[in-house]
Amino acid sequence: MLVNLRPMFWIVALGVGLLCVTVKAADAPSRPWMNTALSADQRAALVVKAMTQDEKFRLIRVDFGDDENGWPLPVGALHSAGFLPAFSRLGLPALQESDAGLGVAKPRSVGATALPSALATAASFDPQVAYAGAAMIASEAHRKGFNIMLAGGIDLQRDPRTGRNFEYAGEDPLLAGTMVGQAIRGIQSQHVLSTIKHYAINDLETARTTVSSQIDPTAARESDLLAFEIAIETGHPGSVMCSYNLVNTVYACENDWLLNQVLKRDWAYPGFVMSDWGAVHSAGKAALAGLDQESAGDKFDKQVFFDKPLRAAVASGEVPQARIDDMAQRILRSVFAAGVIDHPAMVTPIDYETSRAVSQRAEEAGAVLLRNQQSLLPLSPALKSIAVIGAHADKGVLTGGGSSVVVPPGGSAVNGSLPYNWPGPLVYQRSSPLDAFNRRVHGRAQYSDGLDVAAAAKLAAQSEAAVVFVEQWTAESMDVPDMTLPNHQDALVAAVVRANPRTIVVLETNGPVKMPWLDHSAAVLEAWYPGAAGGEAIARLLFGEVAPSGRLPVTWPRDESQLPRPVIPGAGLDAIGLHPQGQPADTVDYRIEGADVGYRWFQRRGFQPLFPFGHGLTYTQFAYAHLQSHVAHDRLTVTFDVVNRGKRAGVDVPQLYVTLPGGRHTRRLAGWSHVALKAGETRHVEITADWRLLSDYDEAKRQWQQPAGNYRLQLGHSASSFEGDTTVELAARNCPDSGCAAPR
Ligand code: BGC
Repeated sequence: MLVNLRPMFWIVALGVGLLCVTVKAADAPSRPWMNTALSADQRAALVVKAMTQDEKFRLIRVDFGDDENGWPLPVGALHSAGFLPAFSRLGLPALQESDAGLGVAKPRSVGATALPSALATAASFDPQVAYAGAAMIASEAHRKGFNIMLAGGIDLQRDPRTGRNFEYAGEDPLLAGTMVGQAIRGIQSQHVLSTIKHYAINDLETARTTVSSQIDPTAARESDLLAFEIAIETGHPGSVMCSYNLVNTVYACENDWLLNQVLKRDWAYPGFVMSDWGAVHSAGKAALAGLDQESAGDKFDKQVFFDKPLRAAVASGEVPQARIDDMAQRILRSVFAAGVIDHPAMVTPIDYETSRAVSQRAEEAGAVLLRNQQSLLPLSPALKSIAVIGAHADKGVLTGGGSSVVVPPGGSAVNGSLPYNWPGPLVYQRSSPLDAFNRRVHGRAQYSDGLDVAAAAKLAAQSEAAVVFVEQWTAESMDVPDMTLPNHQDALVAAVVRANPRTIVVLETNGPVKMPWLDHSAAVLEAWYPGAAGGEAIARLLFGEVAPSGRLPVTWPRDESQLPRPVIPGAGLDAIGLHPQGQPADTVDYRIEGADVGYRWFQRRGFQPLFPFGHGLTYTQFAYAHLQSHVAHDRLTVTFDVVNRGKRAGVDVPQLYVTLPGGRHTRRLAGWSHVALKAGETRHVEITADWRLLSDYDEAKRQWQQPAGNYRLQLGHSASSFEGDTTVELAARNCPDSGCAAPR
């Protein structure tokens, strides 16, 4: 399906495209940086040499690229988050920045293809799913004229109530780092520069611009920063977006430790740091701390710091000219490295059907089957009647809110839900689960909106099976105050499962919610926010056309009492009836759990979650045998056999957990495999442990230290269910961030 873009958009965007072409034709020999035989760094250096001071000062600040709130649209901007006009004299195209990691967010009137939640992608534990989904959204971005994607969300999930968890990749640094790194690779494969965000410890949304994340630097290095480190090393994003919050009382975008010391010195990051929208608070201080580009300061900061104030700081000698040149160099080398100059973004038709299939595949790979009593699932198409209840399942599937929201071509499937304004609107993708069921069952799938609980229960009682959909909308800039499903949906589910024991509960949630009815339910599928083709994907999973293969990328707590911070003061959003209680705090204390995020916290406290990290059922069972460890060239691997003991094909995700010697450690995911096996098939599998997970970070020495001693290795179906346990003795070893001699 080729969708007609709005005429105005075409005209503006074509103009940008033509500009790129004109620019290309008029290049060389006066523009030696157009020589593709040179490295990105060499090309950038040539441009910087040719730039005037005004051009440099133009390059280091981006304008807001939209006309919302009555602001004027900059000439040439494509209605999006950020815009920097072309440098025609130098042959450099405009920078057009688009949100975000789940698809092209703007212009909303045109629409684009939405991926499922990033948590769904993480739940696939399949790097190829992350790469393919990201390549798809970047291809759409490129075909809409964008050359930068504000993607790569990776803040660790420390709390299931954080409103933006759906944009991130879960609680584990290795999983998040690997999956987000692959997504960044996917985006940049389309010649679209990707960010990684929000750097760093932006793990709550409540009071996000004023709250200070208090964390021990070592714990930060072993948790959130490790996720960034792995993703940057895997994906080489052109830019790192620094976050709104403060870290240990210093704003992230003027935090010398985060930007200069960790990112640029220890990780040798060559790209540029851009600010989040409204995250800059100073000129000289931020520039000296390592911020390279101010984003939309014209609309979101108190003033545009990286123009007059920064020029004054250079004139006074506070900021050396070399720093300005370095900012320009870093921005330009990333632009060249991503192929933005050599493969200009241009408006070309988009095949939305193909994009939708990629999104569907991601949802099929990432939905997690949490429970399946007496093998109720998969459903048989021979069903004569099926009740479909709640959550607008007759029309579509839910999307999370904020800057990442992607409106489908044709508009939201459901309109009229609050909030209409930021962080709304509330958007539903156009993929009706009801229609998808009706395409499959021989009988009839009938819908009840669930608002009348008695009517819904009656329909369930009269049907052979029932599927009740529940939803929890969360968004950027807010957290939910608790883990309860909103709008009395628990009462609905309780009534439906009572009315029909053959009830499947499908969750369209940000992540873990309380499930007081769980013990009475037959089956539960966490579908996250299911994306553009979510209805179809859910139907295929429930009818067994594709085997569920997602595993939880987060621990599922029973309730808030199991969390490191049972209360988030001030969390909520009046517009959706979640009234904030108390004042937001000035600080959030992550020293409580430190690096023991998620399943590690649960182990440390001896808590039993409702479902552990790594858990996920399918329509067969797997067993492990013959676990062996091998150490060669300082590289630790394990080998074992995976057997599919059931009667159906399926995908298994065997997980390797290590416990370091010394008694004070919790176990850590050090690697995993992703294996598709036919019924009865056995596969010999090898997993290599990531070297950093075998080490502790020493902040004083700035190195990873692998202690000598016995390491416990456990082969897990999840973070708390093991089949295979062995120990291996490793020698002491110290490694800088760049790694030891042995390859990863
Ligand atoms: C968000 C970023 C986003 C930016 C531009 C900010 O509010 O935190 O993730 O990229 O806006 O829309």
